[in-house]
Order: sequence, then structure tokens, then C-alpha cells
Amino acid sequence: MKRLRVLNVEDNPDDSLLIRRELHKAGYDLVFERVETAEQMGAALDRSEWDVVISDYSLPRFSVPEALTLIAERGLDLPFILISGVLTEEKAVSLVGARASDYLLKCNLARLGPAVRRILQESELKNESSLTKDALEQEIAAREEERRRIARELHDEAGQLLTSLLARARVIEEAASLQAAKTQAGALRELTAETMDSISRLALGLHPTVLDDLGLSAALEAYVDEYEKSHGIEVDADIEPIRPAQLNQKIQLGIFRIVQEALTNIAKHATAGMVSVKLGIAGGQFLVLRISDNGSGFDVELARNGEAARGHYGLRSMRDRASLIGAQLEIQSRPGSGTSVVLTVPLKSNRQRPSKANGQ
Ligand SMILES: Nc1ncnc2c1ncn2[C@@H]1O[C@H](COP(=O)(O)OP(=O)(O)O)[C@@H](O)[C@H]1O
Ligand SMILES: [Mg+2]
Repeated sequence: MKRLRVLNVEDNPDDSLLIRRELHKAGYDLVFERVETAEQMGAALDRSEWDVVISDYSLPRFSVPEALTLIAERGLDLPFILISGVLTEEKAVSLVGARASDYLLKCNLARLGPAVRRILQESELKNESSLTKDALEQEIAAREEERRRIARELHDEAGQLLTSLLARARVIEEAASLQAAKTQAGALRELTAETMDSISRLALGLHPTVLDDLGLSAALEAYVDEYEKSHGIEVDADIEPIRPAQLNQKIQLGIFRIVQEALTNIAKHATAGMVSVKLGIAGGQFLVLRISDNGSGFDVELARNGEAARGHYGLRSMRDRASLIGAQLEIQSRPGSGTSVVLTVPLKSNRQRPSKANGQ
């Protein structure tokens, strides 16, 4: 039985009894106190913690607005259910709108159990949203990790290449003959081209400027080409051209980052023989992206919730990005049977209703 701590504002002990009975029926194990004056209520609020206040509407020595004020003064966020023998609809609506969570008529007390359950669920949800601080910290940690990776690559790869360039230049400077200098210059040119590649790869990781210039499809083609070269993995890419007007910049970037993470995971974890990236429009209303591999696969539930999830932010950031752009992300995988990441994004024509998932 769930424990429920009820502060009942009620002048009639019989009505109080009916309320207790309804809540018992609804399966609650009650801590219950009845108060009928401001002093009593104030004292009860100061003395103990409560899950819900259930208050009669007509009180001879006290009033609902006063009761609501006592709660507000203490900075408490307590659900408040109003019960009344008769109450005009407008009066109820204005009170519920002002502060109360719900109202019931005395003749309809059977609704009390379900009403309490709903209200508690809502307030639990509200508390969960304070978890977003945790999510934010994770996001920041993930970004730091990404920067660290780029710094490492800059240092290791670009730094090394530049050092070699310097060494080659010195050799040319000290060349004994014009012929020797020319040969070294050829090598220097190749090394320079390699350095440019490496830097543009790093830049692509930082921000895909092709996305701004050419749009999602071209940016993905470029990224996949680059990926094949740098990881030696062949990708079966089937990317339909998408008109930039169909998706705004933010959404395009979100999709691009999800592809990046999914492909990076394949290179890091999957040891796959076959990798494919498909992007197309379904039914004129949705963009569907599927990235699959036939590699090692993994237990999605464990990777998401288990101890294993600690310190790994890729899957989480894919999900966060998907929800930020109002898209749906599905990750299908099992140990031994490959992985598919499927993203479904509503197209502009399909985005008329504003929704909080849209985040625009
Ligand atoms: N395509 C894949 N194939 C096999 N395992 C994968 C794949 N994608 C993700 N995983 C597993 O899921 C885990 C979590 O991935 P992610 O959150 O991106 O973190 P990270 O890549 O930093 O380990 C990985 O450590 C890996 O075990
Ligand atoms: Mg990863």
C-alpha cells in the first residue's frame, strides 16, 4: 500500500471520515490530519510534510483563499484538492485556475482516489524535470569530451603533420643540389595536401560548413566519403537529395550529428563487414534515416540504463538531439546481430502544430 499524507481542511468530522474511507478504498495507507482554522493549518504545515491538501470549500471559520495563502507563504508546492457540496462551475474554474489542483463535488467523492493518483503523478513528473540539471551536466561533459577529442586529434595528427612539414622545409633549405631540393619539394607538396585534408576533416568535425553551403544531403555524402577514407570502412550510401527548404538549419545539423555519432560508434565498436546509410522521404511527410551495420551489436537496454552507461554519452546525445528537433529515434540492436539506428523527422509541411519537442 502506498503511504499518503493528507492534510484535510474540514469543519465536519463526518465529511472527513468519508474522505478517509475513499482514499482507503483507493489503496492508500493514510497519515491523516484534520484542521479547521488557519492556526491549526499553519501549525500542521510547519510541523510535518504533506503529499496533498484536501479542503472543503465552505468553512465557517476559515476560507480556501486563506488556506492557499498559507501554503504559498511557505513556498510549498502542495497539490490542493477542493471539495464542495455545491460550487458554481465558474467559481471552481477560477479557483482551480488560481491555485487548486482539482475540485470534486461531495456527491462524487468516488473520483477522489483517481484524482489523487493523477495529481501525484503530475507532481512526480514535475520533480523529474529537475533532473534536467543532471542531463545538462551530462551534455556539458559530452561537449568537453568532444573538445578533448578534437584537441587530441589536432595535437596528434595536425601537429605531427606540421612538424614533418617543418622538417622537410629544413631539408630543402639544406639540400646539396637543386635536384635533391626538387625531390624534397615534391614530398613537401604531398605532405601539405595531406595536412590540408586532415585539417578539413577536423573542421568537419567541429562544424560541417558544407551543411550551410550545400545542405544536408551533400554534407552527408561528403562526410561518408571522408569516413570511408579515414576508417577504411566501405559504406553503402543511398542518400536522396533533400531540398533545404524542407528542413531548417538546426534540424539539418541535428541529423548530421546523429549520423556522425552512429557512424563513429560503428567504427569504434561494431567491427562490421557491412555498413549502410539510407536517407529518403517517406510519404512526402517524413524524412527517414537509417544507419545500419552487421557488426557485433549490443544490449540497448543495458547501454542505456546499466552501469555501462556511465561516462558514455553518444547514445544519450543522439536521443537528446532527436527530441530537440522533434524527431523520433529508434535504436535496434542485439549482441551478435548488428545495429540499426532509425531516425524519423517530420518535414516542414508536417510541422504546423507547435510542439514542445520541436524546440525551435
Ligand atoms: N554500432 C554499434 N555496434 C556495437 N556496439 C555499439 C554500437 N553503438 C554503440 N555500441 C555500444 O554502446 C555503447 C555506448 O555507446 P555511446 O553512448 O556512443 O558511448 P561510447 O561510444 O563513448 O562508448 C558503446 O560503448 C558500445 O558498447
Ligand atoms: Mg559513441
